[in-house]
Amino acid sequence: MRLSLSTWPQVEAYLARATGVIVPIGSTEQHGPNGLVGTDAICPEHLAWSAGERAGILVAPTLSIGVAQHHLGFPGSLTLRPTTLIAVLEDVVASLARHGFRDLYFLNGHGGNVATVQAAFAQIHGRYSLAGTASPLRLRLANWYLGRRVQALSRELFGDREGSHATPSEISLTWHAHPDRAQPMAFDPEVAPTGAIADAADYRARFPDGRIGSAPGLASVAAGARLHEAGVEDLLEDYAAFLAG
Ligand code: NI
Repeated sequence: MRLSLSTWPQVEAYLARATGVIVPIGSTEQHGPNGLVGTDAICPEHLAWSAGERAGILVAPTLSIGVAQHHLGFPGSLTLRPTTLIAVLEDVVASLARHGFRDLYFLNGHGGNVATVQAAFAQIHGRYSLAGTASPLRLRLANWYLGRRVQALSRELFGDREGSHATPSEISLTWHAHPDRAQPMAFDPEVAPTGAIADAADYRARFPDGRIGSAPGLASVAAGARLHEAGVEDLLEDYAAFLAG
């Protein structure tokens, strides 16, 4: 059940029976030579939309631009500054809270967002704490790629060639969502180098094709189908645990 494809009376009816919502959050950034720029947003929204349909959970519009300054050396990458993303999250959460949503579950697809989303949660809860009142909101950040079933399947499918950026798992999942965009490709070297990164210039100098530690030549629509099922099951299990407190 997608908020953007619902009418306001449908949302009002939903709120009469539920106070939870899933908010996919990602990034718009390069994902190597054959990965889609929208990968980190497509993955969580693909899982959230499927889980939402299966279990009747409302899914908010995807927050598809995140903190990705280190990818700006590659065309197409967009970033918000951390302070901007915190402001966006505060306003989105306040809007949802105004209507009666209380249990806000953010499904994230981008490691670079984590610190900023957690800072935003501290900012939001802090307003209540400083005023001496209890926060009526429950906020959770979950990373789809760290789900129990997803992690086990990524290890089974790709082992140590999964890497950390432009991974075969995330690229497979986007190809399952958009099979017409699948671009199988051979890489040399097959597995990209690994290492730390600082700013955008440093990133492109160290990792010229954009990958880090990964072998996206292993990506496939078939692997994406299995990761999709694993990710939806992880999400439904974790969301139910979140609601149960
Ligand atoms: Ni990614």
